[in-house]
Amino acid sequence: MSAHSQGFEIDDWQLRWRGLDLTALPRTESIFALSNGHIGLRGGLEEGEPVDTPGTYLNGFYEKRQFPHAESGYGYPEHAQSLVNVTNGKIIRLFVEDEPVDVRYGETAEHDRVLDFRSGTLRRNTVWTSPTGRRVRIRSERLVSFTERALAVIRYEVEPLDDDLDLVLQSDLLTNEPIAAPGRDPRLAAVLERPLIADLAVTRNYSALLAHHTAASGLRMAAGMDHELEAHRTPRCDIHAEDDLARLTLAVDVAKGDRLRLTKYLGYGWSSQRSTPALRAQVDAALAAGMETGWDELLERQRAYLDKFWANADIEIDGDPEMQQAIRFALFHVLQAGARGETRAIPAKGLTGPGYDGHSFWDTEIFVLPVLTHTMPMAARDALRWRHSTLDQARRRAHELRQSGAMFPWRSINGEEGSGYWPAGTAAVHVSADIAHATVRYLAATGDEHFETEAGAELLVETARMWASLGHHDSNATFRIDGVTGPDEYSALADNNIYTNVMARQNMREAAETCSRRTDLAERLGVGADEIARWRECAEEMAMPYNEELRVHEQSEGFTRHARWDFEATPADHYPLLLHYPYFDLYRRQVVKQADLTLAMYLCPDEFTDEQKVRNFEYYEGLTVRDSSLSASAQAIMAAEVGHLDLAYDYFVEAGLTDLHDLHDNVAGGLHIASLAGTWLSCVAGFGGMRVHRDGATFAPRLPAALDKLTFRILWRESRIAVEVTADKATYRLLAGDPVTLGHHGHRFTLADDPVVREIPEHTPLTPPRIPAGRPPYRRG
Ligand code: BGC
Repeated sequence: MSAHSQGFEIDDWQLRWRGLDLTALPRTESIFALSNGHIGLRGGLEEGEPVDTPGTYLNGFYEKRQFPHAESGYGYPEHAQSLVNVTNGKIIRLFVEDEPVDVRYGETAEHDRVLDFRSGTLRRNTVWTSPTGRRVRIRSERLVSFTERALAVIRYEVEPLDDDLDLVLQSDLLTNEPIAAPGRDPRLAAVLERPLIADLAVTRNYSALLAHHTAASGLRMAAGMDHELEAHRTPRCDIHAEDDLARLTLAVDVAKGDRLRLTKYLGYGWSSQRSTPALRAQVDAALAAGMETGWDELLERQRAYLDKFWANADIEIDGDPEMQQAIRFALFHVLQAGARGETRAIPAKGLTGPGYDGHSFWDTEIFVLPVLTHTMPMAARDALRWRHSTLDQARRRAHELRQSGAMFPWRSINGEEGSGYWPAGTAAVHVSADIAHATVRYLAATGDEHFETEAGAELLVETARMWASLGHHDSNATFRIDGVTGPDEYSALADNNIYTNVMARQNMREAAETCSRRTDLAERLGVGADEIARWRECAEEMAMPYNEELRVHEQSEGFTRHARWDFEATPADHYPLLLHYPYFDLYRRQVVKQADLTLAMYLCPDEFTDEQKVRNFEYYEGLTVRDSSLSASAQAIMAAEVGHLDLAYDYFVEAGLTDLHDLHDNVAGGLHIASLAGTWLSCVAGFGGMRVHRDGATFAPRLPAALDKLTFRILWRESRIAVEVTADKATYRLLAGDPVTLGHHGHRFTLADDPVVREIPEHTPLTPPRIPAGRPPYRRG
């Protein structure tokens, strides 16, 4: 009997759910979602029902609707954007002697589903007995191809177990599926009523194609299916297509013990420019290529793609099998979210569900891109290229808001601001510095000069310009950035939010450094010596509010003088606070939704002394309620750095189990990709202490008591490095590439062919910090 975790069996390389539990469907649809960053299929059953939230997504395919502002104002975005649930090609309905297979009826003796992190497939095995006693075994396996971007394939097999049976299969393409209305939680998606308008429905042999467009955003898409059938007898076959439904029907008599096997190839394409005939051609081509390659070869390619990924990215831990599985689950989904986005955004939920309307936030740059930068750098580059492709919208937004340079949107699919609540949307300007930060990190880790020339420098310059115009010098010659919202969304429109200030400072310094070094680019971007000097001056004179009495930095000016939130009087079921208290109350109190100053100390480590880091960390721990899933990993990283290792472990566990244990009770709407990425960050930046500097990577590894060993791999420039950490020493190995200079607890060394072993310095355990009453880290069991 295997160990279990919330219904999932614990296993190193796969996630298995055994048994039928309909109440778990909403979350397993997200958890078992497959995606390559371009196509996303939620993990519903092939029969189509029962289903909680049907979901088939194409990255970047959205519909616009009028923003329902209660009171409008200058600069409010006029249009909301929502990811569209496009044509569903997963459906394969099965009828056994006239009875529809539906696990809500009859009896399901066996039912298990496995998400396999190495094969990149979702497998299923079900033994079902119809209400009139006919027993069949159903096996399926599906993949969304990492190597053929426009392709997904499902292999579906039925075997009569006791008698010869008449079987009918209906393989569908279904558009405009009904979706249940959401509740009032702002994190849920808006429901679009029948968003797709039919353009074309065609069939030929075993294949069909439907093409549609959206009314307001004017995007076009096509979905096609083709099939291979293996059966002992020739089936009766019918295919037809109408506006929103294409169906291949196959009727065949299958003998006991024989198998009927259908392989369904799905092709998808969308565009804002290309015509319906062009999209049809693209989908036909994807299907033809996919069928020519065939199921077995596609499986092999998927495996080879993942073997390469794991060789670069895997993390091994000794001492906690459940977290070992959680780490690989996390990395697998981060890869799925980013792998083949190719100049599209990486949404906060990836393509696993409709939550947050499919929008991308700063989550991408601060949480997801570091992981991709060091494991799959091309995917990080492509996500930054998406930002770069939206520079015109960001410049227009800056202009509209009377600023220079570019202001990137808080949440978006198409590059325009998609947040209707400006205090926690437009005012969260730090997103622009976050994009600059991810750019700097990507460039430091890869040395990709082509990207710097084409996009990176311009991203740095346009965002630096914005900061120089947004802030101002006060009478003491201090540069201030007033009236903005930092990561902590329980404080809005604050003056000199330190996170924003240190990130803006880094942004301006890096823009200045780049333009001084690359005078060709400076000239092309119209940057002169005066502008460089101004950025340097603003950066040097940046305000850093500090409370002398408490000897801690202020998250923002005046923050430490606000009344403390009454945590003791807050019932445990009143979290997240945003669903139970008005922002009116939250904004006036010391209560922190998610790591803010704590995150700044990780991202800009040189801005704070070691002593300040400890004091700041402990002070803000007492106020941080982790109402956002982004918080736990940031707290894990800094807890590890300052020496609260067991607490760091607790937060790492919380980040890693956020989705598997549904800690925020909203996994049904999609996975929390930033938190999954945070699982990697907790290990690599937390217990591994990795920090990225312009001239290299440094480590300060230290293990919590719960682990005997941690091994992680990273890509740095052309080299692949493995770091193995035990309680008293770290071993650095160069797995491939040129020698590299690294740091270990403050000492530089060069890693070449021979492993380098370094002692881990002793440290004195600290007294655990105070945490808000009622908000301890998640405890298993
Ligand atoms: C967090 C934001 C985050 C967003 C999307 C919110 O709850 O406060 O920081 O960007 O979720 O994940």
